[in-house]
Amino acid sequence: MSLRQRTLNPSRKPLLAEDDGGPLLRWYDLAKRDLPWRKTTDPYAIWVSEIMLQQTQVATVIPYWEKWMARFPTVQDLAVADEQDVLSIWQGLGYYRRCRLLLAGAKWVGENGIPNDVDGWLSVPGVGRYTAGAIASIAQNVPAALVDGNVERVYSRLTGDDHSGKTLSENAWKWAEQNVFSDRPGDWNQALMELGATVCTPNNPSCESCPLQNQCVARQTWRVDQLPTKPPKAKVVKQTHTVWVPRNNEKWGLRQIAPGQWWEGMWEFPRVESAAGSEADALRELVGAGWPQAMGTIRHSVTIHRIRIDVYFLETEQRSTQLQWFATAELAALPMPAPQRKILKLVLRSLGL
Ligand code: ADE
Repeated sequence: MSLRQRTLNPSRKPLLAEDDGGPLLRWYDLAKRDLPWRKTTDPYAIWVSEIMLQQTQVATVIPYWEKWMARFPTVQDLAVADEQDVLSIWQGLGYYRRCRLLLAGAKWVGENGIPNDVDGWLSVPGVGRYTAGAIASIAQNVPAALVDGNVERVYSRLTGDDHSGKTLSENAWKWAEQNVFSDRPGDWNQALMELGATVCTPNNPSCESCPLQNQCVARQTWRVDQLPTKPPKAKVVKQTHTVWVPRNNEKWGLRQIAPGQWWEGMWEFPRVESAAGSEADALRELVGAGWPQAMGTIRHSVTIHRIRIDVYFLETEQRSTQLQWFATAELAALPMPAPQRKILKLVLRSLGL
């Protein structure tokens, strides 16, 4: 153990790491995936990748990250970008709050400079404990810990911790802080996440190829399938929405989603949460006169919500001034939530367009 480790981590047990990082880092050096953000140490580039990777698979993120870095290569480019451009590049990744916070974070960094430690990163809008640890350790070699879902699972199995929820998470953070290998903290953290993503997977983990199999309590006690303990399932919330898709003279009528709503700032066909009631009447008035045709139903899930959307198309007599009107080709670059894209597809298909 180096002197630096001793000083930084007095309580650290040599459970996983030896002077070279032990079996975990030896495995990582051989087995790590070739990911584009692993070829840079630019904190901004790492930041973007880490935000995109929250709730999204690596394979999906790669083309988005590349497009993003080509369009906004530096944090300064992002800080002055137009929100609609930023949303348009993010389109399809979902959870748009992440994107808006990334823009807010870039503006903050534009004014305050780039942080160089965990506390500094925690001051940036949209950067939480995980992201701060990831950027500081991966891009800046700060011996900071991190825990995401993958690390939590590795920790739970490795130590046999059968807690769930908040307790499991807190225990995992303590463990991660005690065990971070301060000679190569970024690789150490990525190795833990990589192990969780590729070997110590939720189902059918490949224990026989795990570099830590000899230290794994779950494996030794035949509890790999039981750990981590599943928290009680959140109640599903069902909703039914109605959407009108108005068209007039080859153009489609959409409106921008109001602040404070899901998908704020993006564009949608007029939508109400119920087909009856005053809200629906107001919307019918807004869309204008026409004969609605039922086009079918779309289903969409976000977190605990299961949304059923009944879709109607109508050729309107006039263009409502409360909507903006776009040609089909223009819709491609317009930031639209995923279910709205599905609605557009359904209508185009139904109309034979
Ligand atoms: N998941 C999120 N960020 C990651 C990283 N840098 N390496 C591996 N898995 C990750």
